[in-house]
Amino acid sequence: MVKLGCSRFLLSCHVLLCLSAIWVLAMADVPAGQRPGCPAKCGDVDIPFPFGIGDKCALHSGFNLSCTNTSVDGVKKPLKGNFEVTKIILPEAKVRMNTRAISSQCYDPAARSMNYINFGLNLTDSPFWISEVDNKIIVIGCNTLAYMTSSTYVIGCRSTCKNVTLENGKCSGAGCCQADVPKGIQYYHGYFNENYNTSTWPDNPCSYVTLMEKAAFSFNTSYVRSNSSVFDETSNGVVPIVLDWKIDAHACEEAKNTSSYACVSSNSVCVNATTIEPGYLCNCSDGYRGNPYITDGCQDINECLENANACGNGICENTPGNHTCSCNPGSSMVNDVCVEKPSRFPVMPVVGASVGVVVFVVALACACMIQERRKLQKMKRDYFRQHGGLILFDEMRSKQGIAFKIFTEEELQQATNRFSEQQVLGQGGYGTVYKGILKGDVEVAVKRCKTIDEQQKKEFGKEMLILSQVNHRNIVKLLGCCLEVEVPMLVYEFVPNGTLFQLIHGNHGMRISLATRLGIAHESADAIAYLHSSASTPILHGDIKSPNILLDMDHQAKVSDFGASILAPTDKSQFITLVHGTCGYLDPEYMQTNLLTDKSDVYSFGVVLLELLTAKLPFNFNPDVPAHEKSLSMMFMYAMKENKLDQILDVEIKDGDNTEIIEEIAELAMRCLEMCGDNRPSMKEVAEKLDSLRKVMQHPWVQRNPEEMECLLGEPSSMASSAITSAEYFSIEKKAVNDLQSGR
Ligand SMILES: *[C@@H]1O[C@H](CO)[C@@H](O)[C@H](O)[C@H]1NC(C)=O
Ligand SMILES: *[C@@H]1O[C@H](CO)[C@@H](O)[C@H](O)[C@H]1NC(C)=O
Ligand SMILES: *[C@@H]1O[C@H](CO)[C@@H](O)[C@H](O)[C@H]1NC(C)=O
Ligand SMILES: *[C@@H]1O[C@H](CO)[C@@H](O)[C@H](O)[C@H]1NC(C)=O
Ligand SMILES: *[C@@H]1O[C@H](CO)[C@@H](O)[C@H](O)[C@H]1NC(C)=O
Ligand SMILES: *[C@@H]1O[C@H](CO)[C@@H](O)[C@H](O)[C@H]1NC(C)=O
Ligand SMILES: *[C@@H]1O[C@H](CO)[C@@H](O)[C@H](O)[C@H]1NC(C)=O
Ligand SMILES: *[C@@H]1O[C@H](CO)[C@@H](O)[C@H](O)[C@H]1NC(C)=O
Ligand SMILES: *[C@@H]1O[C@H](CO)[C@@H](O)[C@H](O)[C@H]1NC(C)=O
Ligand SMILES: *[C@@H]1O[C@H](CO)[C@@H](O)[C@H](O)[C@H]1NC(C)=O
Ligand SMILES: *[C@@H]1O[C@H](CO)[C@@H](O)[C@H](O)[C@H]1NC(C)=O
Repeated sequence: MVKLGCSRFLLSCHVLLCLSAIWVLAMADVPAGQRPGCPAKCGDVDIPFPFGIGDKCALHSGFNLSCTNTSVDGVKKPLKGNFEVTKIILPEAKVRMNTRAISSQCYDPAARSMNYINFGLNLTDSPFWISEVDNKIIVIGCNTLAYMTSSTYVIGCRSTCKNVTLENGKCSGAGCCQADVPKGIQYYHGYFNENYNTSTWPDNPCSYVTLMEKAAFSFNTSYVRSNSSVFDETSNGVVPIVLDWKIDAHACEEAKNTSSYACVSSNSVCVNATTIEPGYLCNCSDGYRGNPYITDGCQDINECLENANACGNGICENTPGNHTCSCNPGSSMVNDVCVEKPSRFPVMPVVGASVGVVVFVVALACACMIQERRKLQKMKRDYFRQHGGLILFDEMRSKQGIAFKIFTEEELQQATNRFSEQQVLGQGGYGTVYKGILKGDVEVAVKRCKTIDEQQKKEFGKEMLILSQVNHRNIVKLLGCCLEVEVPMLVYEFVPNGTLFQLIHGNHGMRISLATRLGIAHESADAIAYLHSSASTPILHGDIKSPNILLDMDHQAKVSDFGASILAPTDKSQFITLVHGTCGYLDPEYMQTNLLTDKSDVYSFGVVLLELLTAKLPFNFNPDVPAHEKSLSMMFMYAMKENKLDQILDVEIKDGDNTEIIEEIAELAMRCLEMCGDNRPSMKEVAEKLDSLRKVMQHPWVQRNPEEMECLLGEPSSMASSAITSAEYFSIEKKAVNDLQSGR
């Protein structure tokens, strides 16, 4: 009985909430503000200030639009440059535009060649950037590896039609794939990997890559099942994209000091833009709505009118920016509900009944709240179970002394200041890493992934257990995880000194000696070799790259990010994943077979070695660079073939007596980058080789003391008596070290 009543009550609550939400939405269309004499609309599109059409109508030239009729029907359209603006959303600071930035690759059977059209979008020097929450990189095709490059990123995915079922509305590798847009970019260009082409798919010769509003895209199998360019045609060659804007390049605190400060309305607030570089925009304060960019643009919201339920059964009174609730004389407020005061006169049966009703309602409300809380807890429990939390718990109980903690959501929220922007350490297609401080001032890094696939979900607890047992001084320690959320979060030890990527490519003006580089290379190789040979289950890293090698004080390397790591599969047939990794580091064999092996890690590590040697980026984003210089590995192979290694070496390590060491590292890198995985050395071999080179470096012959030399070479007397050149010495010493190593 009570249960039924409760669910009814809930239902009516929801209906009321829904109704009031509709009401708010309907009211939200406050007329947009303009400067005097400026048009409010162009065609069907509202043009609120800071945007404007015509002289002195926009805040600055970045927001200046033109209004022209481009179609035969005579409807005018607002244009920003060549792009049609379809909607300006002031409170969210977003603008929706149509772009023609679809890159395509079509096979021409007559000419037996591929025709490429590479498009891009360049918003540099404009106040706009590409919203990472509203857009996606979309790739359509049957044998396509396409990617977008930006000033600092290469992100892409691969789609195939071989042995997969294409489904309308599904874009996860079969005929269509998608990738997340990095944060804060203003420029992108779409490309295709030429090794993937549709020459063997005569029935669907075209592939596409574009960056567009994700809500506007739905995959239709006809996009790849037809020989014509259906995708291009259905979209008329234009795709919508959502952009964020900022007023200028000042953060709020600075902007307030400038004469051009744009948040001029009373009751407006300044909001820091979410770009990487500083910037600000304006919003109306809570309780106000309208245009913060014009005087008195922010108007009070009358909550009492808009939300009939604002005060429940009480009396609502609107105030500037808020409202107050009160009760009729004779009743008082108890937990936001007006309750009749007990009368001093003999209690009339009617009053008694009404009090009874009120008490009943209060009791119901409480019951509902408890129910809601139970529901939330149940949800958390469900997620926990789904992610294999119970298995993990059991294991942890049976194996005492596992230093691994299961965190609650609240704990992590507290540690990261509610996942505040200020705590962000890094960000990428996979998700976001936050810096956190646990109770007791323990610094940690909290990784919050964007998505997890169903298969991974079930295995999560088990994987955690295995990863938690990984214990190597050059591997970032996994301290725990949080399973009671939809996508589990991982908690790692905090490594203070940035990444290898930042060390190599950063602008810190520091010279990095060859010894330091070799040390980092050796320690990382050692860590990866440890993972590969891990006693219980070998672990593949799957995404070795310089941004994933963190540095401690003294440049001690710590390999991180097992987000992509996969326990080595026992059943190979089951193991087909979509290519996941980072362009420039991806093993070409993996791209062809879709099979991740320990040799894929070796390949990626080879690229890291090249970065250490050349200080060049693994992938060149510049569209003008010829194809063979785009990827560092190709450029390196070319240089080695032409015997021009020293032309691509980093100048910081070029000079000096280290030519032999450098050549050895280059040779090692070359073996790591062999096309065929079987020909690459194992990670263990790589680590040993680097270790021996490191030892050679640590013992420069000029500073040698006799005992040490004896240990290495056995025959110090002959050395002392005969005059040998440094190069000769070097080669002997190297051989000796190698012999020592292999003798063990
Ligand atoms: C805005 O653009 C129009 C032409 O489209 C130009 O005449 C006008 O000067 C521009 N205004 C500003 C402030 O840049
Ligand atoms: C503009 O609209 C008129 C009809 O109002 C039409 O005749 C003309 O062709 C249009 N201009 C363009 C460039 O399409
Ligand atoms: C502006 O305020 C509204 C309501 O408080 C909020 O929904 C919106 O996200 C805010 N916009 C920005 C850019 O912070
Ligand atoms: C398609 O790619 C293959 C390699 O995967 C290559 O041999 C072939 O020449 C390419 N075809 C065209 C037309 O580019
Ligand atoms: C983008 O445009 C800016 C100028 O607006 C230019 O300096 C830059 O080179 C362009 N970037 C690319 C990659 O074309
Ligand atoms: C694809 O399917 C065909 C027949 O259905 C099969 O012979 C072939 O081995 C499959 N290829 C792969 C890579 O699974
Ligand atoms: C897919 O496209 C075809 C023709 O292009 C269309 O008839 C069909 O309705 C579309 N299907 C969906 C689910 O959008
Ligand atoms: C596509 O296929 C149809 C028949 O299925 C054919 O008539 C047409 O010429 C083809 N178009 C191209 C561009 O190959
Ligand atoms: C703003 O200006 C005042 C005085 O003009 C100055 O004291 C203050 O430091 C400035 N603040 C910032 C953030 O530049
Ligand atoms: C805005 O960003 C600056 C740094 O870019 C920071 O110092 C300031 O605290 C931020 N302000 C707000 C209101 O978040
Ligand atoms: C409105 O008033 C209530 C109660 O005084 C307060 O809790 C709330 O924060 C206020 N809201 C705004 C937007 O000022």
